[in-house]
Amino acid sequence: MKKPTVLDLKRNKGGRLAMLTAYDFPSARLVAEAGVDLILVGDSLGMVVLGYDTTLPVTLADMVHHTRAARRGAPEAFVIADLPFLTYGTPAQALESAARLMKEALADSVKLEGGEEVVPIVEALVRAGVPVLGHVGLTPQTASALGGYKLQGKDEAAAKRVLDGAAALEQAGCWGVVLELVPAPLAKLVTERIGIPTIGIGAGPHCDGQVLVFHDLVGMFSGFTPTFVKRYAEAGASIKDAVARYAAEVRDGSFPGEGKSFGMKDEVLKRLYGT
Ligand code: KIV
Repeated sequence: MKKPTVLDLKRNKGGRLAMLTAYDFPSARLVAEAGVDLILVGDSLGMVVLGYDTTLPVTLADMVHHTRAARRGAPEAFVIADLPFLTYGTPAQALESAARLMKEALADSVKLEGGEEVVPIVEALVRAGVPVLGHVGLTPQTASALGGYKLQGKDEAAAKRVLDGAAALEQAGCWGVVLELVPAPLAKLVTERIGIPTIGIGAGPHCDGQVLVFHDLVGMFSGFTPTFVKRYAEAGASIKDAVARYAAEVRDGSFPGEGKSFGMKDEVLKRLYGT
């Protein structure tokens, strides 16, 4: 699949983009080979790969390390990397952080969280030539201030904040906006009101695209899994079963069996025994 440009993506309103996270070489390779449109190296990395309870401890160095690995697995894919918590507080800091993700880790775009409050940051990045994907609704980096991992935009004022935030991000130059955990009718309204693609997660069927976390989709995360997630495989159970069978076969001596080891010339062996 040919890598889209940011202009292609911006014009892809209604294009039903399939985005999935990946955090390393093998997962990015699988995701790219399966034909998804966009790979997100999300800071959900903190929970599904690094074992933290939230995304807050994820560092820029973590993101650079994992984005580089994902890029090696998917050299032709459009790869978006999250700017982690407290790495884009000012335009100067955001530019420095984005430079590392794009120049060292070879990301094609960055993603950051927030609505109207991050407009000056988005403007500075876009002015410098950095493609930016916005993210409103539930923003995990500030989930505590939002009352936890809860549906956002339920009342009129909160819904208006989501709507105005998405519109402000479009005005600031984002090529798309992630809508996380908002009511489906609100996601529909935002999608109708703005001219750039919306990519939903727990935001219903009316967004221009959808995103899920790789480990949730393949059944490899045993922590809290939101109800909007659809598991398409039980890879975790399958891996656990494979590992248990391996351990049992090692213990009963059936691994390594026939064909799983190498011989050597008799005369060499004889000489070795003779020494
Ligand atoms: O970090 C992440 O994986 C994300 C998606 C859930 C959109 O931000």
